[in-house]
Amino acid sequence: MNKQMERINAILRHPAYQSWIVANNQAEQGRDFCRHGVEHAFDVARIAYALWLDCGGNPVAKDIVYAAALLHDVGRWQQYADADVDHAEASAELAEPLLLEVGYHPEVAAEICRAVRLHRKGADSGLPQILSQADKLSRPCFLCPSRAKCAWPEQKKNTELIY
Ligand SMILES: [Fe+2]
Ligand SMILES: [Fe+2]
Repeated sequence: MNKQMERINAILRHPAYQSWIVANNQAEQGRDFCRHGVEHAFDVARIAYALWLDCGGNPVAKDIVYAAALLHDVGRWQQYADADVDHAEASAELAEPLLLEVGYHPEVAAEICRAVRLHRKGADSGLPQILSQADKLSRPCFLCPSRAKCAWPEQKKNTELIY
């Protein structure tokens, strides 16, 4: 395993990361709509990296793309506890010290957190845009039994597989 992949696995093994995933899973028990467990994090990571390459992104940044995707929803549970919380902001707040602890340079950690912060609103370019796009593409709305009840506007829902 190379150094970059070790850092990604250090995030996944970290007790704090695991506690956030457990908190998301617990908050979403019985939820009819999209969940935000580790499966979603992995889906977004893989889609985001495919988009990154399609857009001519440098493969060297693979772990940066993965780190942003794995962390983008870790604060989702906070939004269930308090509806005023923006989970993108909450996730970035949780992510930054963890990224530093596993060895990311502060500037790189800030870049990753910027993408996490913008993943709901979207962005025009770079990692924030790719993360936001991958997040949306990860949801198979056309197969979802709760589609009719979902708050996503119809035009935002995925009606087919796009790759
Ligand atoms: Fe999110
Ligand atoms: Fe997400």
